[in-house]
Amino acid sequence: MAIKILTEHINTPGIETFDVYRQKGGYTAVEKAIKTMTPEEVVEEAKKSGVRGRGGAGFPMGMKWGFLAKPEGVPRYLVCNADESEPGTFKDHHLMKTIPHLLIEGMIISSFALGANKSFIYVRGELMYVIRILEQAIEEAKAKGFLGKNILGTGYDLELIVQPGGGAYICGEETALLESLEGKRGNPRNKPPFPAVKGLYQSPTVVNNVESISNMPWIINNGGDAYAAIGVGRSTGTKLISASGHINKPGVYEIELGVSVEEFLNSDEYCGGVRKGHHLKALVAGGSSVPILPAHLIMKTANGEDRLMSYESLSDGGFATGTMLGSGGFIVFDETACIVRNTWNFSRFYHHESCGQCSPCREGTGWMEKVLHRIEHGHGSMHDIDLLVDISKKIEGNTICPLGDAAAWPVASAIRHFRDEFMWHITNPHEASQPGAVYQGEMA
Ligand code: NAI
Ligand code: SF4
Repeated sequence: MAIKILTEHINTPGIETFDVYRQKGGYTAVEKAIKTMTPEEVVEEAKKSGVRGRGGAGFPMGMKWGFLAKPEGVPRYLVCNADESEPGTFKDHHLMKTIPHLLIEGMIISSFALGANKSFIYVRGELMYVIRILEQAIEEAKAKGFLGKNILGTGYDLELIVQPGGGAYICGEETALLESLEGKRGNPRNKPPFPAVKGLYQSPTVVNNVESISNMPWIINNGGDAYAAIGVGRSTGTKLISASGHINKPGVYEIELGVSVEEFLNSDEYCGGVRKGHHLKALVAGGSSVPILPAHLIMKTANGEDRLMSYESLSDGGFATGTMLGSGGFIVFDETACIVRNTWNFSRFYHHESCGQCSPCREGTGWMEKVLHRIEHGHGSMHDIDLLVDISKKIEGNTICPLGDAAAWPVASAIRHFRDEFMWHITNPHEASQPGAVYQGEMA
């Protein structure tokens, strides 16, 4: 049985309550950290663990903590990014609603490490019931002396605030999130300065994902080295994967990083295989923002090695033959999926969610959506395929925040790997635009 760092107790009845969480060993890591360790020692354990940001970027968490500026007399903040909105990604939602004290325990340890006395959990606004679950858990932790003034008699104070999000995908981008938290429109800021130097209210701030922070209780109890011993290479520890699409067992799974894609997709412990009677066509491994992979590149890397569920193996070969682990949104497509329709659908999303600050993204996402719409609906021309590639190149790398890249990569990769399917839509407009019509030819 694979190791479970985050989900070991997730099915225990009553685990959402303080008492049951405590019976299962909860809050012992807080006691250990704030009673027996210095903040620097906690940061050191995070560094040793090698844990990487689980929101999607995979930036080493301990290194990010190390960047936090510490000017005299200026408050520091920890903000948990719980605005999970990436299409195909629903793992943080699962964790917060089932075992809310795990995140709260992680927030206390992380806030202590960073010297923050006021921390925030910015939760996707649509998840009001999760916000209530978290608030209830915070009240319980406070009543037991784990939050508030003079925690466990150590002199350390921490106020933890749950903030409902603004209802826009872009508010999950860390600087847009900070703007929104300050009560402003959620427009991303130019970086640098990074939040670690100028974040919330222009003060040094760390923004970490729910899953990243939830690893901290285990890291403190077992040590950063023990965490680093799990996983493969620089992909240490475990990862929550949101599995969806044409598979037998959609759901949230905790995997040890380094499990093969084949095992994750086909074993009964995880996805249980492509749905009965159908075969694999394509995969998006890390949420809608990452390149799509065709069937022949999914199980093996370009040099014939087993492809693993890790940051390195999934991106092997760059965008020519790889994808990204991203936020762990594993979306499986069988042969009944139309790649053009799916690409148009993703484009509609990014166009709708663009904040409009920079013209390559504001205009480019709109153009891509329009061109894809006309190809899907039988009005495209061959020139449109190159036009889409051209627009995606003009967006990529030319915008303030990663939403531009996230909109460009799925389009560019779909054309790279499924050009035949785009061409079929253009040469067979009547047939291709029928509801449910799907290209059945050889994939490029
Ligand atoms: P990023 O790579 O720009 O930054 C990663 C983190 O490291 C940030 O917190 C940044 O402030 C910090 N950082 C990087 N260099 C630094 C430096 N020199 N000094 C101080 N701090 C530094 O990526 P970002 O914008 O945080 O995330 C983009 C990813 O988010 C995408 O790859 C996508 O997969 C994912 N995403 C996830 C969503 C979800 O719902 N989970 C939604 C949308 C995107
Ligand atoms: Fe806004 Fe798009 Fe520019 Fe990001 S890339 S700041 S979402 S316009």
